Amino acid sequence: MRAIEDKDRIVIIDFGSQVTKLIARRIRELKVFSQIVNLKEFNNIKNFKGIKGIILSGGPSSVTNKKHIKISSLIFKKNIPILGICYGLQLIANAHNGKVKTNLKKREFGRALLIKRNNSVLIKKFFKKSKNFVWMSHQDAVTKMPKNFKRIASTKDSPLTIIENSKKKIFGVQFHPEVTHTFNGQIIFKNFIFDICNAKKNWKVDNEKKEMINKIVKITKNKKVLCALSGGVDSSVVALLINKAIKKKLICIMVDTGLMRKNEFSETLRIFKKRYKLNVKVINAEKEFLKNLTNISDPEKKRKVIGKMFIKVFEKEARKIKNIEFLAQGTLYPDIIESKSVTGSKSSKIKSHHNVGGLPKKMKLKLIEPFKELFKDEVREVGKSLGLIKEIREKHPFPGPGLAIRIIGKITKEKIKILQEADHIFINELKKNNLYDKIWQAYAALLPHKTVGVMGDSRTYEFTCLLRAVTSEDGMTAEHFSFPKDFLENISNKIINKVKGINRVVYDVSSKPPSTIELE
Ligand code: XMP
Repeated sequence: MRAIEDKDRIVIIDFGSQVTKLIARRIRELKVFSQIVNLKEFNNIKNFKGIKGIILSGGPSSVTNKKHIKISSLIFKKNIPILGICYGLQLIANAHNGKVKTNLKKREFGRALLIKRNNSVLIKKFFKKSKNFVWMSHQDAVTKMPKNFKRIASTKDSPLTIIENSKKKIFGVQFHPEVTHTFNGQIIFKNFIFDICNAKKNWKVDNEKKEMINKIVKITKNKKVLCALSGGVDSSVVALLINKAIKKKLICIMVDTGLMRKNEFSETLRIFKKRYKLNVKVINAEKEFLKNLTNISDPEKKRKVIGKMFIKVFEKEARKIKNIEFLAQGTLYPDIIESKSVTGSKSSKIKSHHNVGGLPKKMKLKLIEPFKELFKDEVREVGKSLGLIKEIREKHPFPGPGLAIRIIGKITKEKIKILQEADHIFINELKKNNLYDKIWQAYAALLPHKTVGVMGDSRTYEFTCLLRAVTSEDGMTAEHFSFPKDFLENISNKIINKVKGINRVVYDVSSKPPSTIELE
């Protein structure tokens, strides 16, 4: 693969908004390569040649606060077009003698009506009859026009919602064009990257695939690569990609943790051995995983134990194979971005996802992460062009620690079995009713307490099953999926009637944020 430094690209400086990743996605959807960097990484860029435009993201900081995250004013002298979004706009205004004020009475969250005041290349075809609905999330607003800027649009409560200095190609918008709630938001990016930055459509996943294959051949030489295959989208596409590059020098390991969905392990094994003829080695570690998880109820502890167990298994296998030098992982771009902090210092962790953070040094294996620049949809596209069947390619994401983080509290073999049965019924019904592909992620979880029920004439005292189904873009934010009432009633009946151990089913309607997709 070409070094990132050489690539024509739009650079997004992340100031910590929940939706920065969406900016990167929107630009890639327009077939232009985009890269998210934090301030430290931006300040370390030596070669600006490939950078066609810079976007300053939103973020929780406030320029009215002395300790706000600052950006050097040198950025405005580089002759590279700049678009500031929300906090990005406020930074621009602040740097050009404008004024930004916090006004709790005039804060705007959610939909706002934007009115066009002047023409600009940035808003070409964006408005309909000089009006548009946009999505806002701010309490600071630009109250005094920065020097040499012009007002392009305003809302009732923020008079300077879009501003520009067309000569210097600096633009700022208070709303979020990257979220789907802003009508025509993609047009803002299109105008910015093509008409203002003159970027070329250079981003084609198929080209990347070819480069990735060449690079894998080149770096592995005659050495072998170990790949942990789970049957999820990312590891499956990684395995097929590396297999295409180096054939039998790829050794896939499938670890049976006992924490997968019902039948998933055997199905995956069959597909990759029989259909794709991969070199797969099976490790049965069910008993060991369960033993190590006994009496652990803390979610992070569960993740740590499972992470360590995986490493132990890989280490043991790696030692047995001659000439092994690499370990392949399906780390994605969102995983990488999520583990970076805005300023470059350590950030607070919500959940530790164990596929980022490297390997213990003593393992001496080098990591191959071909997808660390790609979004999940892009990996699915690579999978499609490698002939990966839809059943795996379009699978919902499944967390590395598996059912361990969907059994709230302590894990037992009995609980795993109960959950597998309930989850199987739920997922099968989604598929039968053509709902599976409309949902980003769906699953059943088991709550830790038993409740009373009645079946026939007998009292029951059993577990509650929680169903979760969300729509999302890359798992950053999520909304619950609206099922018809009959569908939920039918699932509830089926689960309670067929799964011994469950006498109550609930449906989780919370969104992310403030909840998360997984319960643990
Ligand atoms: P949350 O629960 O943080 O989940 O909203 C966002 C996405 O990440 C997945 N997830 C994990 N994936 N190891 C993983 O490999 C983990 O420990 C983990 N925890 C959450 C989750 O399924 C969703 O797709």
